[in-house]
Amino acid sequence: MGLGNEKRQLLSKMAMNEGHGENSAYFDGWKAYERDPFHPTNNRHGVLQMGLAENQLCFDLIQEWIGNNPEASICTSEGLHHFSDIAIFQDYHGLPEFREGVANLMSKVRGGRVKFDPDRIVMSGGATGANEMIMFCLADPGDVFLLPTPYYPAFVRDLCWRTGVQIVPVHCDSSNNFKITRSALEEAYKKAQEDNLNVKGLLMTNPSNPLGTTLDKKTLKSLVSFINEKNIHLVCDEIYAATVFKPCSFISVSEVIQEMESCSKDLIHIVYSLSKDLGLPGFRVGIVYSYNDTVVSCGRKMSSFGLVSSQTQHMLASMLLDDDFVDKFLAESSRRLANRHGLFTEGLEKMGITCLPSNAGLFCWMSLRNLLKEQTVEGEMMLWNVIVNEVKLNVSPGSSFSCTEAGWFRVCFANMDDETVKEALRRIREFVGRETEKKTVMMKKMKRSSRKSSVSMRGSFVSTRRFDETVMSHHRMSPHSPVHHSPLVKAT
Ligand SMILES: Cc1ncc(COP(=O)(O)O)c(C=O)c1O
Repeated sequence: MGLGNEKRQLLSKMAMNEGHGENSAYFDGWKAYERDPFHPTNNRHGVLQMGLAENQLCFDLIQEWIGNNPEASICTSEGLHHFSDIAIFQDYHGLPEFREGVANLMSKVRGGRVKFDPDRIVMSGGATGANEMIMFCLADPGDVFLLPTPYYPAFVRDLCWRTGVQIVPVHCDSSNNFKITRSALEEAYKKAQEDNLNVKGLLMTNPSNPLGTTLDKKTLKSLVSFINEKNIHLVCDEIYAATVFKPCSFISVSEVIQEMESCSKDLIHIVYSLSKDLGLPGFRVGIVYSYNDTVVSCGRKMSSFGLVSSQTQHMLASMLLDDDFVDKFLAESSRRLANRHGLFTEGLEKMGITCLPSNAGLFCWMSLRNLLKEQTVEGEMMLWNVIVNEVKLNVSPGSSFSCTEAGWFRVCFANMDDETVKEALRRIREFVGRETEKKTVMMKKMKRSSRKSSVSMRGSFVSTRRFDETVMSHHRMSPHSPVHHSPLVKAT
């Protein structure tokens, strides 16, 4: 036995730490779903999965294309002659036709207003791998990236866990529909500097997960100016670019920098993937598109750790270079998402539940502040527990997105069929009805008791007023409350 052997840790610090973010209350929702998954015939009372940002609305179109193009696959008699070439291909540059196909798709998604150079496309295992790869290229352990809230919880894993990079939140709130303002950016930047942290960049998701909103040109230009003035990087995760279903249409950072003469393009990097826009998260196709030559060259070497299988590249190359298919797919996907969004949010509106106005994404950002017993993270988690365990809906609490206001929930609506959405709406309606009735009864009781005691007992007036404020006037209360971090790790 060597000295201090009993204290020696057998595994690495990384293996033993919590940086993966999976040990959070958030995961109870996944567990609840896994224990008791809803099935329309076999388990009608099971948990509905509304915590999964998957786009399952257009599988039929992709399946139809595959059926009509058997030569695109190396596993059909029509495509088998490509088998040996593709099976041995392992070049970290990727198949040239695959990179061309991705560049073609990216351009079409941006209305043809920008062209992308296939030689700047670096492959990775999904946007998950792309986000980590760009961190490895831009930052050292301990360095900081600014991140507007609310943000995708798995960023904690993707940006920080293995790289040692830290996140400093840029706090946004509902007073301006969660817009990213220059003053919020300056404040976060200043705070990081005061803490002696080295800020290397700003990362933002456009369209936003969880908000489902897109950034307007003015905001985008102000973000680009900000990072230029500070000489830090801007990473734009545009993974939801083609999920826009209402005007205004999506504006990519790539368009904005074309118009800005003073912008240093070396600082701009786009992360993209086919997981959301095409609904293919299982294919693990992600990319970094960097305007910085050194990042492209370094990222390409790093991509050896997370190459996209050549079989997948080969098949997708044909699909993404089929202009007719891509055009039709994008138009139809957007139309179906608009219908689904309408079905769900109009259903909620009828019950008096509002969502942040949105025009993109596979989810909506629903406000249930009226139903909170207290306007705190604890109040939010109490409500969330009831929703998951009693109403049996797995939705995601705002605190797991580092939202600074209690009572917001992200609800995904594109990973199920219309009938399942209607079942979700039916359960929410029943729950809201029950809660409203309970509150009315309590209100009456409180009023009666306050009338009785108001002559002599001033203290009970105070408690009545507090109750009224909590139940009736949530919009008058301070929306801010401390949020504990509770990261999401995407379900598989
Ligand atoms: C904003 C954002 N970035 C990255 C990812 C990871 O995507 P991928 O499946 O391509 O790894 C997600 C998935 O939900 C996401 O919402």
